[in-house]
Amino acid sequence: MSQTLVNVKAAGDDARPVLWTNTKRGKRIHRRNSQIFYFGVCLGLAAVVGIVLDGVLRIERSDKLCLVLDDDFSRGLDPSVWTREVQTSGYGTGQFDWTTDSDNNAFVRDDKLYIVPTLTNESIGAASFEREGHTIDLGQLGTCTSPSTANCIAANNATVGQIINPVQSARLTTRASHSITFGKVSVRAKLPTGDWLWPAIWMMPREETYGGWPASGEIDIMESAGNRPRHRMDSRSRATVLSTFQFGPAWYANAGERHTASRSRWRGYFDSGFHDYVLEWNEHRMRVYIDNPNNLVKEFRFPKKQSMWHYGRFNEYDHPDGPLRNPWIRSTRPNVAPFDQPFYLILDVAVGGQFFNGDRSDLPWNPSSPQPAALFWRNVDLWYPTWPASHTDRGMAIDRVRMWQKC
Ligand SMILES: *[C@@H]1O[C@H](CO)[C@@H](O)[C@H](O)[C@H]1NC(C)=O
Ligand SMILES: *[C@@H]1O[C@H](CO)[C@@H](O)[C@H](O)[C@H]1NC(C)=O
Repeated sequence: MSQTLVNVKAAGDDARPVLWTNTKRGKRIHRRNSQIFYFGVCLGLAAVVGIVLDGVLRIERSDKLCLVLDDDFSRGLDPSVWTREVQTSGYGTGQFDWTTDSDNNAFVRDDKLYIVPTLTNESIGAASFEREGHTIDLGQLGTCTSPSTANCIAANNATVGQIINPVQSARLTTRASHSITFGKVSVRAKLPTGDWLWPAIWMMPREETYGGWPASGEIDIMESAGNRPRHRMDSRSRATVLSTFQFGPAWYANAGERHTASRSRWRGYFDSGFHDYVLEWNEHRMRVYIDNPNNLVKEFRFPKKQSMWHYGRFNEYDHPDGPLRNPWIRSTRPNVAPFDQPFYLILDVAVGGQFFNGDRSDLPWNPSSPQPAALFWRNVDLWYPTWPASHTDRGMAIDRVRMWQKC
């Protein structure tokens, strides 16, 4: 407060300046101001104490974790840890890539795992790739990893407009080696660059205890796209990553769309550096963050007092096929199921697929066509030039993978 000089005419005194604050009125006001000041300080202190207490009460005791996998790829691509899934049929997502067991598509170099999409004509030769009637039957070759060998046939058939998968990529899983039920996963990765690439770090149930997808759940730790962002917050671009927790009694009754969130960067996109993509998962909640818990992507607190069936309001679901059946009815943790079973880790870079539908009007394929890959390939000049030549940029690079079981 600035001290104002006031002229006060005191009795028997010459007029001389007196500090205004020394007047009676000034002192009263000063006293009141002090009171207000100290009252404010007390309020502030109370607020601080409150916030700290609130934080202390909210902090969960951190889970005791036992490391089950720590792979920094210094031993190469360890086949006792990683299985390469081989399929051509797009895994039900409409993706165009043929996932191979080839070192062209998944390899370790400089202690990093690279998952790199390539053009199929480059590996099987342009003549085979283009020859009418040419059929590749991976079931017959013994490399198909799908229980249904129909998922491993690729063929050129001009009558129906079908072509051999124009791109190849890789999908690696820990299904045969490591799964966890509650715990933590941390994957240090740099995402790929290139249009219509769809990198993912995710988990699937080892057993389909509660039935087919999505009844037994799916944990999408990270999904993104290699496309250049068209605008800030472009949800299908390398500026954005998404996390989703999928579960529901039927494919048309999947609660995933209500349990998804994204995180965007305005510069230094996810393809320009390594980040830790982390899942923490216990009986109370799942949460995904990038690098540290302050960069939360998505948290899902399991319902406390009701089952997932009621929480998801699946009992109210109206569908022409009749009422749904509760797939989790026999779970001992009905408020957590299906996320109370062993899940394994998957790392892949898909190309195209339904992930891009809806959000983008510039797809170089027709998502409602029965043979979308044919048009995608005809438009190769639109997208292939955006795929960098170097594996370090085109591929998803994985520096380290760790999984812990809650113990
Ligand atoms: C494969 O197709 C691309 C795109 O059309 C082309 O640039 C490339 O030369 C082809 N590679 C071979 C081996 O034919
Ligand atoms: C192409 O597909 C049609 C319909 O399924 C089938 O009848 C025909 O034999 C196929 N052609 C070749 C060359 O495989």
